[in-house]
Amino acid sequence: MIDLRSDTVTLPTPAMRAAMAAAEVGDDVYGEDPTVRALEERAADLLGTEGALFVPSGTMGNQVAIACHTHPGQEVIVEAGSHIYNVELGTMARFSGVQPRVLVGERGVFTADQVAAAIRPDLYYLAPTGLVCLENTHNAAGGRVWPLAAAREVLARARARGIAVHLDGARVFNAAVATGTPVRELARGFDSVMFCLSKGLGCPVGSVLCGSRPFVAEAQRVRKALGGGMRQAGILAAAGLYALDHHVGRLAEDHLHARLLAAGLATLPGLSVLPPETNIVLVTIEAGPDAAALCARLRARGVLASPAGAGTSARQVRMVTHLGISRADVERTVDLVREELRAPGE
Ligand SMILES: Cc1ncc(COP(=O)(O)O)c(C=O)c1O
Repeated sequence: MIDLRSDTVTLPTPAMRAAMAAAEVGDDVYGEDPTVRALEERAADLLGTEGALFVPSGTMGNQVAIACHTHPGQEVIVEAGSHIYNVELGTMARFSGVQPRVLVGERGVFTADQVAAAIRPDLYYLAPTGLVCLENTHNAAGGRVWPLAAAREVLARARARGIAVHLDGARVFNAAVATGTPVRELARGFDSVMFCLSKGLGCPVGSVLCGSRPFVAEAQRVRKALGGGMRQAGILAAAGLYALDHHVGRLAEDHLHARLLAAGLATLPGLSVLPPETNIVLVTIEAGPDAAALCARLRARGVLASPAGAGTSARQVRMVTHLGISRADVERTVDLVREELRAPGE
């Protein structure tokens, strides 16, 4: 199978498995796992923060951050297509007692003026704004990179009003590699940053939440409260350390494959394709089968892709390149899509 559904489907390589098998471990709830500690120190160093916390998933990292930055009854400014708003089960309401304040961005990117206008004035009958969240890269916008200048304007405007800003940086290493910007520059100024090890970086499990020392101390308490305290988690952290050493630079290959896939698909009649900035290709079917039908046909031919928007889009298909996808896979996918678009009955 050529599996283009997500970069979460990557399997640990033999070398990553060897690093995991060799990991020195201890009980991390007692703070005794040296490999988890090493990963957290490495992540903090890379992102330029005082501390970092290993968490089981990106969702938990985002939600721990929201819980740490806010109080019940507050609002959290999010983008309409963001993962936190759409695909995390309303968890900010469930666990933190806060409500989303939704801004519609231009392909995932909102402006500092939009943020300033959405921050509630200090009136006793309004829900105070507790946090602003950005997503870089923006998944639903096709792996779009948040322009650094735009992010910095949002950070400055929020800071001027005393409001914290969290970065959902599930794929922030893709943004760093695509723009040639050190990841610590993309993280600078945020009050917390979550990045995922289990997406393009190719680990089986895990994300890291980075921030100041007091933030990480509180995040550790919230993680435990949510059931995210892990024991001999160094086996997983070893995969993270391996990925940070060996799988960051190679993201450029995934981006190249995404561009080749997009260019190939764009030549096919009936399709329009957003030029990808990183590893996510969004294909709109202007004429022909709908997204579910095309995905079903491709599955029968050995290619897995998904209707976009977590399965909600009738006419858009999402394809994601990752370390399990070769250039030959990309070429075969384009050929199979060409054949399936031509299939009789459509
Ligand atoms: C932008 C973004 N944030 C957060 C997450 C959540 O990560 P996890 O699946 O590890 O909970 C994802 C997962 O796809 C994502 O794309």
